Amino acid sequence: MHIQSKCVHGRQEGDPLTGAICTPIYQSATFSHPGVGESKGYDYSRLQNPTREKLEYIVADLEEGKDAIACSSGMAAVSILMEVFQRGDHLLASEDLYGGTIRLFNSISQKNGIEIEYVDTSDLLLIKEKMKANTKAIFIENPTNPMMHVTDLVGVKDLLAQKDILIIVDNTFLSPYYCRPLTLGADIVLHSGTKYLGGHNDTLAGFIVTKTKEIGEKLRFIYKTVGCCLGAMDSYLLIRGIKTLALRMERMQENAMKIAQFLEKHPKVKKVYYLGLPSHPQYALSQKQSSGFGAMISFTVDSKDTAMSVLEKVQLIIFAESLGGVETLLTHPAKQTHTDVPAAEREKRGISDTLLRLSVGIENSEDLIADLKSALA
Ligand SMILES: Cc1ncc(COP(=O)(O)O)c(C=O)c1O
Repeated sequence: MHIQSKCVHGRQEGDPLTGAICTPIYQSATFSHPGVGESKGYDYSRLQNPTREKLEYIVADLEEGKDAIACSSGMAAVSILMEVFQRGDHLLASEDLYGGTIRLFNSISQKNGIEIEYVDTSDLLLIKEKMKANTKAIFIENPTNPMMHVTDLVGVKDLLAQKDILIIVDNTFLSPYYCRPLTLGADIVLHSGTKYLGGHNDTLAGFIVTKTKEIGEKLRFIYKTVGCCLGAMDSYLLIRGIKTLALRMERMQENAMKIAQFLEKHPKVKKVYYLGLPSHPQYALSQKQSSGFGAMISFTVDSKDTAMSVLEKVQLIIFAESLGGVETLLTHPAKQTHTDVPAAEREKRGISDTLLRLSVGIENSEDLIADLKSALA
């Protein structure tokens, strides 16, 4: 089945009781037992819930994984994943990452004795250099947030072949619609389901999708123990959001391409970072490992004053954190998503005061360009 149909129908079982074509919301914390030592498959919603289970099947199918675990947010998903590692383990991570993930690594994982070393994962030689005997995983954001570096996922798989090192890919920006890292060699895929999967800026969610049942079982034990599960109502909203994932991704990408081309020609715009522009250094790699470029654009303007005035002047575009929803959002990474990254480190990575990040939505592209044009005037 093609991914567009999978998004709409999932596994298409329907509701066995009523035939309802939309998944019922099982808003129940607990489930009765038919007899002592017997269960209908559901005991308590921290362990499993029928609405959430349906969502997990759908996401596992979209990512071509064996299991998907639906968490209460993307950060909840990353947090329980980190529980797999032990004191003394060494992890490599993309040096340009979502600020919340960096905060988790630097303030919680390190405290728990896990050594995190940041590396430009788009450079395979650097990864090779940084690997140690106790390296247990490589954590890749693809593309990275906000600088849009792309990692050669098959290259990483080849580099780590025969080594017991987990390849973890945060696939939030491209979504399974444009890239499926498990098919390229990753062991675990992460999502902030809050973004493209939910798609409407109305629900927090996160996913861990695993290549094998074994890793899935290990994570489910941590999941049911920690209890960061997604509620039934939110699971329903995610199922509903995913039905239009294909349409939204196509439309957003179409808009993003036009906006990136407009920005590239604007005299006040110094640099545009968009995977779909031939000027992107990994344009060819993106074409090879993804079926699309997504709708995230970062760009620098000529001064901090211009950046601030664009943020204040946009009208249709909303100055807000987050991404992946139907509304176009404009973010100032240095002041919002990446404030916890030390200033010197931010500067080194290019997250300057003149950098803006645009999550392109589904509005009319001419309206969006007109809004940017007047904000940049
Ligand atoms: C790439 C990426 N991963 C993970 C997260 C965390 O997700 P959540 O906000 O759902 O906790 C974000 C949030 O912006 C993100 O951009």
